[in-house]
Amino acid sequence: MIFDKSSTRTRVSFETAMVEGGGAAIFLSPRDTQLGRGEPIADSARVLSRMCDAIMVRTFSHEVAETLAKYSTVPVVNGLTDSFHPCQLLADMQTYFEHRGDIKGRKVAWVGDGNNMCNSYINAAQQFGFALSIATPPGYEPSGLGNISSAVDVEYSNDPKRAVVNANLVVTDVWASMGQEDEAERRHDLFHQFQVSEALLSEARSDVLFMHCLPAHRGQEVEAAVLDRPDSVVWDEAGNRLHAQKALLEMLIVGSAA
Ligand code: CP
Repeated sequence: MIFDKSSTRTRVSFETAMVEGGGAAIFLSPRDTQLGRGEPIADSARVLSRMCDAIMVRTFSHEVAETLAKYSTVPVVNGLTDSFHPCQLLADMQTYFEHRGDIKGRKVAWVGDGNNMCNSYINAAQQFGFALSIATPPGYEPSGLGNISSAVDVEYSNDPKRAVVNANLVVTDVWASMGQEDEAERRHDLFHQFQVSEALLSEARSDVLFMHCLPAHRGQEVEAAVLDRPDSVVWDEAGNRLHAQKALLEMLIVGSAA
């Protein structure tokens, strides 16, 4: 497990999944490895492939994960890059199915920054067949908007209320992601109308669910009371990181026939 960025949920869920599955996981930070001293990603991929059954990477540039995957002979899992966070979507989809059944044909609202999580929701909308309505401040639209096929129901605006109206699921994330800490103050001013509040949630369907990949900043992207409502499933969502990743690792390492 290569971590160039901080993590609680991703690290603990992958490590626990491996241990409970009868394996082991090795945590590598830039401080401890030659990657942190400039050893090429491609060389590291070739070496780790000869020692491990899978590689998980959390890093900044998505190209790093792609280079690892290109030169690795074992599966490489994206544990978050600046562009995508697919493992979180496995847990989010599992959580929706557990609480409300199939998400196909339902409406999901993404409110806040058009970040890596938003891009992964765009991918999930294509894979799972739900309608996605995204609202971000102008200039913060997700990069993934440019790659959507016309068959996919993804709408973009700068209006949080429009996104949330009749939504079955409302999702947000921090306004300044890891690596954007120096922008936090400026983003706070730009994003304050995009807070998921109880008033905003009242525009959604009565059986709406609320999700946030965590960590959350109460009083910023989400009103504190929203996290504690019965329709907030953020703790199940976090817990499902473990179960979803167990399934992912079993499929990748043991094979789908296991
Ligand atoms: N949601 C998520 O990826 O959490 P961590 O940053 O704690 O891993």
